[in-house]
Formats: sequence, C-alpha cells, structure tokens
Amino acid sequence: MAPALTQDDWELLRSTAVEAMGQAYAPYSNFPVGVAGLADDGRLLSGCNVENASYAVGLCAECGLVSDLVRTGGGRLVAVWCVDSRGETLMPCGRCRQLLWEHGGEQCRIQTPEGERSLAEILPQAFGADDLTKGAR
Ligand code: THU
Repeated sequence: MAPALTQDDWELLRSTAVEAMGQAYAPYSNFPVGVAGLADDGRLLSGCNVENASYAVGLCAECGLVSDLVRTGGGRLVAVWCVDSRGETLMPCGRCRQLLWEHGGEQCRIQTPEGERSLAEILPQAFGADDLTKGAR
C-alpha cells in the first residue's frame, strides 16, 4: 500500500487545485472548478472545467485532470482535491467519481468537506472494469 500523504502533499494539491480553478472557462455557469491529483510516480496533475455554448458538452475539471494523467504517461491517481471558486473543497459530481474510479480505484484518497476519504467511500459498490470481465458473455 502507498504511504500516507503528508500535510505538505495535501497542501500542494490544494494550492494546485486553486491555481487550476483560476484558469477555468466557465462563462455560462460562473462556477469555476479546479482539481489536482497526485500520481503513483509522484507526478502532480491538474484540471479545470471548460464549458461550451452547447451547455451539455462542457467538460468538468476532472476530465482535464484525467486527460493530464493519461497524456503525461498514465499511471494511477493516489490522491485528489477538488475546489470551487472560494477554494473550498468540492465533491466531484457522480460522473466524475466514476472517472476518478477508473484511474484511481478504491484506494485513491480524496478530500471531502468531511475530511479525507477513499474513493470507495464516496462511490460505494462502484461499477468498474472487473464487472466487465466477470459479466462478459
Ligand atoms: N463541475 C466540475 O467541473 N466538476 C464537478 O465535479 C462538478 C461540476 C463543473 C461543471 C460545470 O462547468 C460547473 O461545474 C457547474 O456545474
């Protein structure tokens, strides 16, 4: 199991998420979001939401985070922190919990307004690649 994150690791994630939030393109919702993640090889990744005049195709900040992870070499997310415009901790939407699950899995740590949790705690009984293997015809 990966070693627990230090206070400094978490602080870096928070400040990186706030910085990413500052780059958000959110003219329609006026709700900028930033997220930062730590990969299992120590890479620091981030993303912001990018909206669209065709509202439904807007991208959540977590989409950018996962894209950054894959683009820079892949690996697994071990910790994530998502923030709103005030820099307050924001819970990922349901779809984005699924995105994080794919690339972090149950062990990945995440900050919530109630403190640090695992992805398994915020997405219980998650659907994942294992289910595809088990249930394939
Ligand atoms: N948003 C995110 O970027 N991540 C989330 O987990 C929740 C919602 C964005 C989508 C949209 O641009 C704005 O917040 C308002 O919903």
